[in-house]
Amino acid sequence: MRVVLATANPGKVRELTLGLAPLGWTLLSLADFPLRLPKEEGATFLENALLKAAYVAKATGLPALADDSGLVVPALGGEPGVHSARYGGRETDRERNVYLLERMRHLKGEERRALFVAVLVLAYPDGHAEAYEGSVEGMVLEAPRGEGGFGYDPLFYVPEAGKTFAEMTLEEKARHSHRGKALSALLEAYEKGPPPREISRLE
Ligand code: IMP
Repeated sequence: MRVVLATANPGKVRELTLGLAPLGWTLLSLADFPLRLPKEEGATFLENALLKAAYVAKATGLPALADDSGLVVPALGGEPGVHSARYGGRETDRERNVYLLERMRHLKGEERRALFVAVLVLAYPDGHAEAYEGSVEGMVLEAPRGEGGFGYDPLFYVPEAGKTFAEMTLEEKARHSHRGKALSALLEAYEKGPPPREISRLE
């Protein structure tokens, strides 16, 4: 199957490419199509992922896979959440990490608990769509650690691994991450071919 990855984020492209490898799909990217993704105006990860995947599937005539994801800090009322990519209006990952640390300066111990959430939507040109979700719990450190990954990776510490996402290899991150878990759910559904549509239809 030929599938378009409906994301312009190189970090996501790397992780999705690794995670989807066992399916043997031919992966195309937005570099192959002159498309600009729609504005992410949805209130949830699911709405935004569906918006992106459905748009790209319709525009290209091919199945499209979108990822909408973000960091959720309960002690900040769920920030940055669906606004993770443009938190505080900051332009770069580094600036957003500094901003997050400022917002959390008064938070200690358990209050620094956070979740990463990813929703993958696979949309088909005929309007059919499926969603796969993954999440992981961790802590937001008081200073960055590690050089790998992207986004908030240097601040997100996974206790069971004893590392931040930025200190993990791509394979290690895939085992622990929200996106890795969402990909496992997709792989499970597709390992014997496309799942029956009446089960997988997104309402
Ligand atoms: P989206 O394109 O609206 O889904 O933006 C997701 C944003 O959430 C990214 O730009 C990152 O800031 C953040 N994010 C999502 N997944 C990850 C991850 O695996 N590591 C670090 N940051 C992430």
